Amino acid sequence: ALISLRQLLDHAAEHDYGVPAFNVNNLEQTRAIMEAADATDSPVIMQASAGARKYAGAPFLRALMEAAMTEFPHVPVVVHQDHGTSPAVCQRSIQLGFSSVMMDGSLGEDGKTPMDFDYNVSVTRQAVGMAHACGVSVEGELGCLGSLETGEAGEEDGIGAVGKLSHDQLLTDPEEAAEFVKATGVDALAIACGTSHGAYKFSRPPTGDILAIDRIKEIHARIPNTHLVMHGSSSVPQDWLAVINEFGGEIPETYGVPVEQIQEGIAHGVRKVNIDTDLRLASTGAVRRFLAENPAEFDPRKFLAKTTTAMRDICVARYEAFNTAGKA
Ligand code: G3H
Ligand code: 13P
Ligand code: NA
Ligand code: ZN
Repeated sequence: ALISLRQLLDHAAEHDYGVPAFNVNNLEQTRAIMEAADATDSPVIMQASAGARKYAGAPFLRALMEAAMTEFPHVPVVVHQDHGTSPAVCQRSIQLGFSSVMMDGSLGEDGKTPMDFDYNVSVTRQAVGMAHACGVSVEGELGCLGSLETGEAGEEDGIGAVGKLSHDQLLTDPEEAAEFVKATGVDALAIACGTSHGAYKFSRPPTGDILAIDRIKEIHARIPNTHLVMHGSSSVPQDWLAVINEFGGEIPETYGVPVEQIQEGIAHGVRKVNIDTDLRLASTGAVRRFLAENPAEFDPRKFLAKTTTAMRDICVARYEAFNTAGKA
């Protein structure tokens, strides 16, 4: 059944758990997420980016999400638009039946100039006005996602800022967050706390304090009724990197956010945890291994089924680690 992000995250806050938000682009991802949720009795956030809409086409994407709810009617599902770049984009998703939208005004009008607070407030507030009139939730973003180790935004997916970021830009300011929430009325707020998008977050094995947990605590204390969102939360599984590289891939040494750090974030107010890269890596590893081991095989269903299983295992692990399991 379709529920709003606000409904789900209010429940998560009350019961001290986090919810992974997985990106969907195709049937296999959608099925992997739903089968994992079904197996662990978890609620679901599935989110679609502009890239997903371009890849699948809006009608197919919407139909995939609807099919998920038809096949698994007992699973609560939030259908969320990831990184909407304007109120108009949010409006189209609302018309398409999404129950939640992200208005990401954190990169300014040109999509690459961080820290234009007034612009961010103005577009986010417009999105909230529209969405709330339709019972749809809104996630905003304040701050600039980027690795505290490298200062890089992880821009390869086209969503991050361009160039090196200063330490100041890499952490959301708690006072600004309070002002932003008051001015916009967002239900959830994506914050910058040391994560970045994509597979190249950290070049060395991350130590215990790779995220700014203290900053998360300060922000949560300042806006306790706004659900915090952690983008760039893939853990970049080393076992899948090894599989990819064993079977013809060439991915350099790289590390993601340790699950234990995300759990600490959840203990301090993080409720929505965005994960895309981990499912991409698992999917690619499964395809490479299957085709290398079965060179005569040409039925795509054979290797696509392997991607579903690989992604499903990661979803199950995250539902369990974030304490989402059993909360549906
Ligand atoms: O935050 C970005 C997500 O990983 C979506 O990536 O725009 O390539 O679909 P995408
Ligand atoms: P990852 O690239 O770490 O999976 O993050 C995805 C994300 O934040 C989508 O909005
Ligand atoms: Na989002
Ligand atoms: Zn993101």
